[in-house]
Amino acid sequence: MIDLHTHILPGMDDGAQTLAEALEMLQLAQQDGITHLVATPHIYRGPYQELNGEKIRKELSRLSSAAQQAGLEVNLFQGAEVHITHNLIEQIHRYRPDLVINQSDYIFIEFPADHVFPGVKDLFFELLSLGLTPIIAHPERNAVFVRQPRILYELVQMGALCQVNSGSFLGYYGEHVRQGVYNLLRFNLVHLMASDCHHPTTIPPLLSEAVELAAEVIGFDEAQALVNDNPRAVLENRTIPHYSPPRPPQERKKSFKLRRPVFHFFSRKH
Ligand SMILES: [Fe+2]
Repeated sequence: MIDLHTHILPGMDDGAQTLAEALEMLQLAQQDGITHLVATPHIYRGPYQELNGEKIRKELSRLSSAAQQAGLEVNLFQGAEVHITHNLIEQIHRYRPDLVINQSDYIFIEFPADHVFPGVKDLFFELLSLGLTPIIAHPERNAVFVRQPRILYELVQMGALCQVNSGSFLGYYGEHVRQGVYNLLRFNLVHLMASDCHHPTTIPPLLSEAVELAAEVIGFDEAQALVNDNPRAVLENRTIPHYSPPRPPQERKKSFKLRRPVFHFFSRKH
């Protein structure tokens, strides 16, 4: 399996803090059947505003050598989790190789947890015009996408892809997110699954259990594709081979049913 979204580089963000912790995470990943793992540190989010490509590459090669010395066989690749920022296009013009996934034309885009700003379609149009394919990181964790999957549907119709977190199936982020991720699966709005791991125990780099859960909804082959064929195509800069046209989600209609008035003659407290 391929884990496309991880916070495994020591000291780069709120993920692994030490080399020992990163190696422990790699060990877990390998035991779970992960052979390729992309390091995607937070960029332009909260305290991680500065992109330091040189530091990312240095930490990546340090971790790769340490992993090799420890007898681990997971292959590591460079990527980033790029938070939406006001001058994103300008940043991409300047630092594109360090913002995309493994030098490809795929780029992770992260939204804030509680809103989707009104100009999002224009931004995605600009990204697509630059030849980039935006991959929306864990849309099931965004309250607006969960409540109004139609917005996500429209972005996917434009050409964006969606990556969901394995932990969302396992309830790591609560029941609301768990139900949200299942909903997105039913609308064919899930193209990739990754761990978004931050730590060996709290959010570990595990995929297999969530793949089994996804298989109950979309079948074994399609669930496998989320962690195999599709992320492999991203790493190799090809079009993803498993793609089902998204189903247009129906907006929840307001209920105009008249409610019977409730009288509390007998329960009134004096
Ligand atoms: Fe992440």
